[in-house]
Amino acid sequence: MNKKEFAKRRQRLIEIMGPDSIAVLPNATVSNRNRDVDYIYRSDSNFHYLSGFDEPESVIVIVPGRPHGEYLLFCRERDLKKEIWDGYRAGQEGAVEKYGADDSYPFSDLNDILPGLLENKKKVYYTMGNVPAFDHRMVEWLNHLRNASRQGKHSPNEIVELDHCLNELRLYKSSSEIKAMRYAAQISAQAHIRAMEFAAVGKWEYQVEAEIMHEFMKNGCRSPAYPSIIGGGENGCILHYIENDQKLKNNDLLLIDAGAEYDYYAADITRTFPVNGKFTPAQKTLYNIVLDAQKAAIAEVKPGNHWNQPHEAAVRVLTQGLVRIGLLEGELETLIEQEQYRDFYMHRTGHWLGMDVHDVGDYKVGGEWRLLEPGMVLTVEPGLYIRDPEHVNKKWHFIGIRIEDDVLVTKTGHEVLSHAAPKEVDEIETLMAAARSKH
Ligand code: GLY
Ligand code: MN
Ligand code: MN
Repeated sequence: MNKKEFAKRRQRLIEIMGPDSIAVLPNATVSNRNRDVDYIYRSDSNFHYLSGFDEPESVIVIVPGRPHGEYLLFCRERDLKKEIWDGYRAGQEGAVEKYGADDSYPFSDLNDILPGLLENKKKVYYTMGNVPAFDHRMVEWLNHLRNASRQGKHSPNEIVELDHCLNELRLYKSSSEIKAMRYAAQISAQAHIRAMEFAAVGKWEYQVEAEIMHEFMKNGCRSPAYPSIIGGGENGCILHYIENDQKLKNNDLLLIDAGAEYDYYAADITRTFPVNGKFTPAQKTLYNIVLDAQKAAIAEVKPGNHWNQPHEAAVRVLTQGLVRIGLLEGELETLIEQEQYRDFYMHRTGHWLGMDVHDVGDYKVGGEWRLLEPGMVLTVEPGLYIRDPEHVNKKWHFIGIRIEDDVLVTKTGHEVLSHAAPKEVDEIETLMAAARSKH
């Protein structure tokens, strides 16, 4: 994203906030992994969304109408000794020159400066609970102001949820955001193809994961958007399986849910295919039910339809399929109404997608499902997970299938951002056979 995009986002927030207000947004804290090793740092998505600034110990402060500039960035001071060990810091000069802050102060000066900025403001935009250590400081500063009211200082009379304002902005993707998401989806699709070409009986799930990571990283996506799920056979029936430590077996399916993060934007793709390159008849039957459900759901993604329409379409096709093959019995409408499919399909058909894989934004507005609008991005990911209930014929046992694509709502309908990942049975079998003939 370029500097202008971040400035535009801050401007939108300023317009929402109005006069006599202030927004305070601390960045995420560093998490310790073990002893001297920390997890790789990633900015809070809202923090990055407003600033593009990715150092810990930083705080964004926005003060609409402030004569000396509306955008203040508190961050660490330059420190050559520390930079030799831990890397470059922008410092106050960099915050202004590189990141467009109107003013920048050292993070260590917050106690001296922030109470003065909070003084006489009517509204404070802040979200409690994200950074507990910072919550305590905010409460202290606000209490201090309240106690100083005898000296004629006013404390704010309204605290407004900042995250909610930013979440609504983030729900509508700009053209540069869509470009980043298209790229993340493209690289992720390539990674799924690579996994199909590599997978074989006797390989380990983590070896397939390594292929996926290689494709992500060599294309500039340094991290997956979430831990990859690489589930062979019955592991495909565990929705959040991430152990990825089992050997792939003949006649099993492999369910892979993996998406890259590119420039802070996520892809989220699932494909399910046979380890040995050829679906068994039972696998193919179930697979095509899920595929038909997914296509029916994607067809419902268009402006004016509401959030739940793709889910309703998927549930209908899945239930019809389960009746057809004898896994459910009864009248279709009743089965749908009673959610009888839930033994085999226990999650919803999708979620918003963006900087966070389960992205922000309300699904209901005023108690009603939200209408889809151009610029929104969602996943469509129906599945069937048949474990081994006694009443189910053995031939279906431990087949887990999910097919997941990333879909942008456009003015006229939709665009499937992840279209490059094959999902038709014959496409997958042909691709896998071709790869095997080269080995
Ligand atoms: N990969 C997480 C999800 O599909 O929701
Ligand atoms: Mn997924
Ligand atoms: Mn998903």
